[in-house]
Amino acid sequence: EKMPTPYEMIGEHTLSKLVDAFYKRVASHPDLAPIFPKDLTETARKQKQFLTQYLGGPSLYTKEHGHPMLRARHLPFPITEKRANAWLSCMYDAMNEIELDASIREGLFSRLALTAKHMINSVENEN
Ligand code: HEM
Repeated sequence: EKMPTPYEMIGEHTLSKLVDAFYKRVASHPDLAPIFPKDLTETARKQKQFLTQYLGGPSLYTKEHGHPMLRARHLPFPITEKRANAWLSCMYDAMNEIELDASIREGLFSRLALTAKHMINSVENEN
C-alpha cells in the first residue's frame, strides 16, 4: 500500500478553500497588496496549480507554465523579510479560518516557511 500524499490528505476542495482564504488576506494586507495585482483571480489559479504539485499531486503548474523556478519568478518583486513574514501570517490565518486539520497544518506551514524565506531578495530600507 502506498502512503497517501499530502495532496491526497488535504484534498482538492480544501486546498482551493485555503488558497482563496489566503489571497483574501493578501488583498487587504498593507505590506503585500501593493506588490500584487488588483485582481487576484489568476494568481490564485496559479497558486492552486502550484500547491497541488508541491504537495505531491498532479503537476498542474508545470504542465501549463513550465518549471516553477519560484525564486526567479519572484525576482521582479521586492520581497523583504517583513513581506515574507506577512505572507506567512496570511497563510497561518487562512489555515485557521478554514480549520485545516492539525495533522497537516504544522508540516505544511513549516515547509512553506522555508520556501518563503528562500524568496527573500531585498533588504528593507530605513524609511
Ligand atoms: C506569484 C509575492 C512567497 C508561490 C507571486 C507574485 C507576487 C508574489 C507579487 C505575482 C503575482 C501575479 O503576478 O499574479 C510573494 C511574496 C512572498 C511569496 C511577497 C513572500 C515570501 C511565495 C511562496 C510560494 C509562492 C512561499 C509557494 C509556496 C507563487 C506562485 C506564483 C507567485 C506559484 C505564480 C507564479 C507565476 O506567475 O506563474 N508571488 N510570494 N510565493 N507566487 Fe509568491
